[in-house]
Amino acid sequence: MTRQDVFDLTDRVIVITGGLGQIGRQFALEFIERGAKVAIFNRSIPDEAILQERFPVASGRVAFFKVDITNKSSIAAGLAALVTRWGVPHVLVNNAGLDTQPSAPPEVSGPFEDFPEEVWREVLEVNMTGTFLCCQVIGGAMAKLGRGSIVNVGSIYGMLSPVQDIYAYKEAKTGKAFVKPVAYCASKSGLYNFTRYLATYWGRKGVRVNILTPSGVRRDSQDAEFQANYCQRMPMGRMAEEDEFNGAAVFLASDASRYMTGSNLVVDGGWTAW
Ligand SMILES: NC(=O)c1ccc[n+]([C@@H]2O[C@H](COP(=O)([O-])OP(=O)(O)OC[C@H]3O[C@@H](n4cnc5c(N)ncnc54)[C@H](O)[C@@H]3O)[C@@H](O)[C@H]2O)c1
Repeated sequence: MTRQDVFDLTDRVIVITGGLGQIGRQFALEFIERGAKVAIFNRSIPDEAILQERFPVASGRVAFFKVDITNKSSIAAGLAALVTRWGVPHVLVNNAGLDTQPSAPPEVSGPFEDFPEEVWREVLEVNMTGTFLCCQVIGGAMAKLGRGSIVNVGSIYGMLSPVQDIYAYKEAKTGKAFVKPVAYCASKSGLYNFTRYLATYWGRKGVRVNILTPSGVRRDSQDAEFQANYCQRMPMGRMAEEDEFNGAAVFLASDASRYMTGSNLVVDGGWTAW
Protein backbone atom coordinates (compact mmCIF):
# COMPACT_ATOMS: atom_id res chain seq x y z
CA MET A 1 0.00 0.00 0.00
CA THR A 2 1.39 3.42 -0.88
CA ARG A 3 1.47 5.92 1.95
CA GLN A 4 -0.45 9.10 1.23
CA ASP A 5 1.61 12.29 1.27
CA VAL A 6 -0.12 14.54 3.79
CA PHE A 7 1.57 17.56 2.24
CA ASP A 8 0.13 16.80 -1.19
CA LEU A 9 -1.42 19.79 -2.95
CA THR A 10 -2.09 18.22 -6.35
CA ASP A 11 -4.95 20.04 -8.09
CA ARG A 12 -5.81 22.08 -5.01
CA VAL A 13 -7.03 25.51 -6.05
CA ILE A 14 -5.26 28.14 -3.98
CA VAL A 15 -5.99 31.87 -3.90
CA ILE A 16 -3.07 34.07 -2.85
CA THR A 17 -3.82 37.73 -2.34
CA GLY A 18 -0.87 39.97 -3.11
CA GLY A 19 0.72 37.01 -4.87
CA LEU A 20 2.91 39.26 -7.01
CA GLY A 21 4.81 40.60 -4.00
CA GLN A 22 8.00 39.34 -2.42
CA ILE A 23 6.67 36.57 -0.16
CA GLY A 24 3.40 35.86 -2.04
CA ARG A 25 5.25 35.06 -5.26
CA GLN A 26 7.38 32.52 -3.40
CA PHE A 27 4.27 30.88 -1.98
CA ALA A 28 2.80 30.75 -5.49
CA LEU A 29 5.92 29.16 -7.04
CA GLU A 30 6.09 26.57 -4.26
CA PHE A 31 2.41 25.64 -4.56
CA ILE A 32 2.65 25.41 -8.37
CA GLU A 33 5.72 23.19 -8.05
CA ARG A 34 3.63 20.88 -5.85
CA GLY A 35 0.87 20.56 -8.45
CA ALA A 36 -1.61 23.14 -7.14
CA LYS A 37 -3.48 25.63 -9.29
CA VAL A 38 -2.75 29.11 -8.05
CA ALA A 39 -5.03 32.12 -8.48
CA ILE A 40 -3.26 35.36 -7.76
CA PHE A 41 -5.54 38.18 -6.62
CA ASN A 42 -3.56 41.39 -6.90
CA ARG A 43 -4.53 45.05 -7.07
CA SER A 44 -2.46 45.57 -10.21
CA ILE A 45 -1.38 43.00 -12.79
CA PRO A 46 1.67 43.70 -14.95
CA ASP A 47 1.82 42.80 -18.63
CA GLU A 48 2.30 39.27 -19.94
CA ALA A 49 6.07 39.51 -20.48
CA ILE A 50 6.68 40.43 -16.84
CA LEU A 51 4.35 37.69 -15.64
CA GLN A 52 6.19 35.13 -17.79
CA GLU A 53 9.46 36.26 -16.32
CA ARG A 54 8.19 36.06 -12.74
CA PHE A 55 6.39 32.74 -13.18
CA PRO A 56 8.51 30.83 -15.69
CA VAL A 57 7.45 27.37 -14.49
CA ALA A 58 3.73 28.03 -14.37
CA SER A 59 2.41 26.28 -17.53
CA GLY A 60 -1.31 26.78 -17.03
CA ARG A 61 -1.17 26.35 -13.26
CA VAL A 62 -1.31 30.03 -12.44
CA ALA A 63 -3.97 32.61 -13.22
CA PHE A 64 -4.05 36.32 -12.45
CA PHE A 65 -7.08 38.28 -11.34
CA LYS A 66 -7.11 42.03 -10.91
CA VAL A 67 -8.71 42.32 -7.48
CA ASP A 68 -8.64 45.06 -4.89
CA ILE A 69 -9.13 43.28 -1.57
CA THR A 70 -10.58 46.41 0.03
CA ASN A 71 -13.54 46.21 -2.37
CA LYS A 72 -16.07 43.42 -1.79
CA SER A 73 -17.49 43.50 -5.34
CA SER A 74 -13.99 43.28 -6.76
CA ILE A 75 -13.29 40.15 -4.67
CA ALA A 76 -16.67 38.66 -5.65
CA ALA A 77 -15.95 39.30 -9.35
CA GLY A 78 -12.50 37.68 -8.99
CA LEU A 79 -14.02 34.67 -7.24
CA ALA A 80 -16.76 34.30 -9.90
CA ALA A 81 -14.14 34.29 -12.67
CA LEU A 82 -12.03 31.79 -10.74
CA VAL A 83 -14.97 29.47 -10.05
CA THR A 84 -15.79 29.39 -13.77
CA ARG A 85 -12.21 28.42 -14.53
CA TRP A 86 -11.19 26.04 -11.74
CA GLY A 87 -14.09 25.83 -9.24
CA VAL A 88 -14.36 26.99 -5.63
CA PRO A 89 -10.88 27.26 -4.08
CA HIS A 90 -9.62 24.87 -1.41
CA VAL A 91 -7.18 27.33 0.15
CA LEU A 92 -7.10 31.09 0.71
CA VAL A 93 -3.84 32.76 1.66
CA ASN A 94 -4.50 36.29 2.89
CA ASN A 95 -1.06 37.62 2.12
CA ALA A 96 -1.60 41.10 0.63
CA GLY A 97 -0.49 43.78 3.03
CA LEU A 98 0.76 47.32 3.35
CA ASP A 99 3.87 48.05 5.37
CA THR A 100 6.16 51.05 5.83
CA GLN A 101 9.71 50.28 4.74
CA PRO A 102 12.75 51.80 6.51
CA SER A 103 13.15 53.95 3.36
CA ALA A 104 9.72 55.59 3.93
CA PRO A 105 9.47 59.40 3.91
CA PRO A 106 9.26 61.30 7.23
CA GLU A 107 5.51 62.02 6.88
CA VAL A 108 4.74 58.35 7.47
CA SER A 109 7.64 57.42 9.72
CA GLY A 110 7.68 60.24 12.23
CA PRO A 111 6.38 60.43 15.82
CA PHE A 112 3.22 58.57 16.79
CA GLU A 113 1.57 61.88 17.71
CA ASP A 114 1.83 63.07 14.10
CA PHE A 115 1.05 59.82 12.30
CA PRO A 116 -1.45 60.75 9.56
CA GLU A 117 -4.97 59.51 10.17
CA GLU A 118 -5.49 58.81 6.45
CA VAL A 119 -2.46 56.51 6.39
CA TRP A 120 -3.71 54.72 9.52
CA ARG A 121 -7.05 54.16 7.76
CA GLU A 122 -5.42 53.06 4.51
CA VAL A 123 -3.22 50.46 6.23
CA LEU A 124 -6.08 49.09 8.34
CA GLU A 125 -8.25 49.00 5.24
CA VAL A 126 -5.87 46.69 3.38
CA ASN A 127 -4.43 44.61 6.22
CA MET A 128 -7.57 44.11 8.31
CA THR A 129 -10.64 44.99 6.26
CA GLY A 130 -9.19 43.37 3.13
CA THR A 131 -8.58 40.13 5.01
CA PHE A 132 -12.05 40.32 6.55
CA LEU A 133 -13.70 40.80 3.12
CA CYS A 134 -11.72 37.98 1.47
CA CYS A 135 -12.75 35.64 4.30
CA GLN A 136 -16.39 36.69 3.93
CA VAL A 137 -16.49 36.16 0.18
CA ILE A 138 -13.99 33.36 -0.48
CA GLY A 139 -14.08 31.70 2.95
CA GLY A 140 -17.88 31.88 2.80
CA ALA A 141 -17.89 29.97 -0.51
CA MET A 142 -15.56 27.34 0.95
CA ALA A 143 -17.74 26.99 4.07
CA LYS A 144 -20.78 26.28 1.87
CA LEU A 145 -18.89 23.27 0.51
CA GLY A 146 -17.78 22.28 4.02
CA ARG A 147 -14.05 22.37 3.33
CA GLY A 148 -11.10 24.71 3.10
CA SER A 149 -8.03 26.14 4.73
CA ILE A 150 -7.40 29.83 5.29
CA VAL A 151 -3.90 31.06 6.01
CA ASN A 152 -3.70 34.63 7.25
CA VAL A 153 -0.29 36.27 7.14
CA GLY A 154 0.61 38.15 10.30
CA SER A 155 3.93 39.59 11.41
CA ILE A 156 6.17 39.56 14.46
CA TYR A 157 5.25 43.27 14.67
CA GLY A 158 1.64 42.20 15.17
CA MET A 159 2.67 39.98 18.09
CA LEU A 160 5.19 42.29 19.73
CA SER A 161 5.93 45.97 19.55
CA PRO A 162 8.79 46.85 17.18
CA VAL A 163 12.21 47.41 18.68
CA GLN A 164 12.53 51.06 17.74
CA ASP A 165 16.28 51.11 18.53
CA ILE A 166 16.88 49.27 15.26
CA TYR A 167 15.91 52.41 13.37
CA ALA A 168 17.69 54.95 15.62
CA TYR A 169 20.70 55.20 13.26
CA LYS A 170 18.45 57.01 10.79
CA GLU A 171 18.23 60.12 12.95
CA ALA A 172 22.03 60.46 13.00
CA LYS A 173 22.07 60.01 9.24
CA THR A 174 19.13 62.16 8.13
CA GLY A 175 18.44 64.39 11.13
CA LYS A 176 14.91 62.95 11.30
CA ALA A 177 13.83 60.24 13.70
CA PHE A 178 12.36 57.12 12.09
CA VAL A 179 9.60 55.52 14.10
CA LYS A 180 8.27 52.18 12.86
CA PRO A 181 4.64 53.20 12.47
CA VAL A 182 1.74 52.10 14.61
CA ALA A 183 -0.73 51.31 11.81
CA TYR A 184 1.07 48.23 10.48
CA CYS A 185 1.53 46.82 13.99
CA ALA A 186 -2.05 47.44 15.10
CA SER A 187 -3.52 46.08 11.86
CA LYS A 188 -1.44 42.90 11.98
CA SER A 189 -2.24 42.44 15.65
CA GLY A 190 -5.95 42.43 14.89
CA LEU A 191 -5.48 39.45 12.59
CA TYR A 192 -4.57 37.16 15.51
CA ASN A 193 -7.94 37.28 17.23
CA PHE A 194 -9.72 37.54 13.89
CA THR A 195 -8.08 34.19 13.07
CA ARG A 196 -9.22 32.65 16.36
CA TYR A 197 -12.72 34.06 15.92
CA LEU A 198 -13.16 32.53 12.47
CA ALA A 199 -11.51 29.25 13.48
CA THR A 200 -14.17 28.73 16.13
CA TYR A 201 -16.96 30.10 13.95
CA TRP A 202 -16.18 27.65 11.13
CA GLY A 203 -14.77 24.92 13.41
CA ARG A 204 -17.54 22.42 12.62
CA LYS A 205 -17.97 23.53 9.03
CA GLY A 206 -14.70 22.10 7.76
CA VAL A 207 -12.92 25.40 7.18
CA ARG A 208 -9.69 25.73 9.14
CA VAL A 209 -8.24 29.18 9.83
CA ASN A 210 -4.66 29.70 10.98
CA ILE A 211 -2.13 32.49 10.95
CA LEU A 212 1.48 32.38 9.80
CA THR A 213 3.87 34.82 11.46
CA PRO A 214 6.97 35.80 9.48
CA SER A 215 9.80 38.05 10.57
CA GLY A 216 11.70 40.49 8.36
CA VAL A 217 12.89 39.40 4.94
CA ARG A 218 16.18 40.58 3.50
CA ARG A 219 15.77 42.94 0.56
CA ASP A 220 18.52 44.45 -1.56
CA SER A 221 16.91 47.87 -1.06
CA GLN A 222 17.49 47.81 2.73
CA ASP A 223 20.47 49.80 3.93
CA ALA A 224 23.38 48.06 5.61
CA GLU A 225 22.82 49.65 9.05
CA PHE A 226 19.22 48.46 9.15
CA GLN A 227 20.22 44.92 8.23
CA ALA A 228 23.08 44.88 10.75
CA ASN A 229 20.87 46.17 13.59
CA TYR A 230 18.06 43.76 12.74
CA CYS A 231 20.44 40.78 12.62
CA GLN A 232 22.00 41.85 15.93
CA ARG A 233 18.58 41.50 17.61
CA MET A 234 17.76 38.25 15.81
CA PRO A 235 18.70 35.04 17.70
CA MET A 236 19.63 33.28 14.44
CA GLY A 237 21.74 36.28 13.47
CA ARG A 238 20.29 36.81 10.01
CA MET A 239 17.17 38.01 8.23
CA ALA A 240 14.87 35.56 6.44
CA GLU A 241 15.21 34.78 2.76
CA GLU A 242 11.97 35.32 0.87
CA ASP A 243 11.26 31.60 0.37
CA GLU A 244 11.79 30.54 4.00
CA PHE A 245 8.08 30.62 4.91
CA ASN A 246 7.11 28.27 2.09
CA GLY A 247 7.34 25.10 4.16
CA ALA A 248 5.01 26.55 6.79
CA ALA A 249 2.57 27.72 4.10
CA VAL A 250 2.50 24.24 2.52
CA PHE A 251 1.91 22.72 5.96
CA LEU A 252 -1.01 25.05 6.73
CA ALA A 253 -2.53 24.74 3.26
CA SER A 254 -2.35 20.93 3.13
CA ASP A 255 -3.88 18.03 5.07
CA ALA A 256 -0.66 17.86 7.09
CA SER A 257 -2.29 20.44 9.37
CA ARG A 258 -5.79 18.94 9.23
CA TYR A 259 -6.30 18.97 13.03
CA MET A 260 -4.98 22.50 13.41
CA THR A 261 -7.17 25.58 13.53
CA GLY A 262 -7.02 28.91 15.32
CA SER A 263 -3.25 28.56 15.68
CA ASN A 264 -0.32 30.83 15.09
CA LEU A 265 2.66 29.31 13.31
CA VAL A 266 5.69 31.48 14.02
CA VAL A 267 8.63 31.33 11.59
CA ASP A 268 10.87 34.11 12.82
CA GLY A 269 14.48 33.02 13.34
CA GLY A 270 13.78 33.17 17.09
CA TRP A 271 12.75 36.86 17.22
CA THR A 272 9.83 36.25 19.61
CA ALA A 273 11.79 33.81 21.79
CA TRP A 274 13.23 36.49 24.04
N1 LIG B 1 8.52 41.20 3.83
C1 LIG B 1 8.64 41.12 5.14
O1 LIG B 1 9.72 41.40 5.71
C2 LIG B 1 7.47 40.72 5.98
C3 LIG B 1 7.66 40.43 7.35
C4 LIG B 1 6.57 40.04 8.12
C5 LIG B 1 5.32 39.95 7.55
N2 LIG B 1 5.16 40.24 6.22
C6 LIG B 1 3.82 40.13 5.65
O2 LIG B 1 3.87 39.24 4.56
C7 LIG B 1 2.93 39.66 3.56
C8 LIG B 1 3.64 39.82 2.23
O3 LIG B 1 4.67 40.78 2.38
P1 LIG B 1 5.61 41.22 1.18
O4 LIG B 1 6.80 41.85 1.80
O5 LIG B 1 5.78 40.08 0.24
O6 LIG B 1 4.74 42.37 0.54
P2 LIG B 1 4.93 43.12 -0.85
O7 LIG B 1 4.75 44.57 -0.58
O8 LIG B 1 6.17 42.65 -1.55
O9 LIG B 1 3.68 42.61 -1.68
C9 LIG B 1 2.36 42.92 -1.30
C10 LIG B 1 1.45 42.64 -2.49
O10 LIG B 1 0.11 42.97 -2.10
C11 LIG B 1 -0.49 43.68 -3.17
N3 LIG B 1 -1.58 44.52 -2.63
C12 LIG B 1 -1.46 45.59 -1.82
N4 LIG B 1 -2.68 46.12 -1.58
C13 LIG B 1 -3.57 45.35 -2.24
C14 LIG B 1 -4.98 45.38 -2.39
N5 LIG B 1 -5.72 46.34 -1.81
N6 LIG B 1 -5.58 44.42 -3.14
C15 LIG B 1 -4.84 43.45 -3.74
N7 LIG B 1 -3.51 43.38 -3.65
C16 LIG B 1 -2.87 44.32 -2.91
C17 LIG B 1 0.64 44.49 -3.78
O11 LIG B 1 0.32 44.90 -5.10
C18 LIG B 1 1.79 43.48 -3.72
O12 LIG B 1 1.79 42.63 -4.86
C19 LIG B 1 2.31 40.96 4.07
O13 LIG B 1 1.09 40.70 4.69
C20 LIG B 1 3.33 41.44 5.07
O14 LIG B 1 2.78 42.27 6.06
C21 LIG B 1 6.20 40.61 5.43
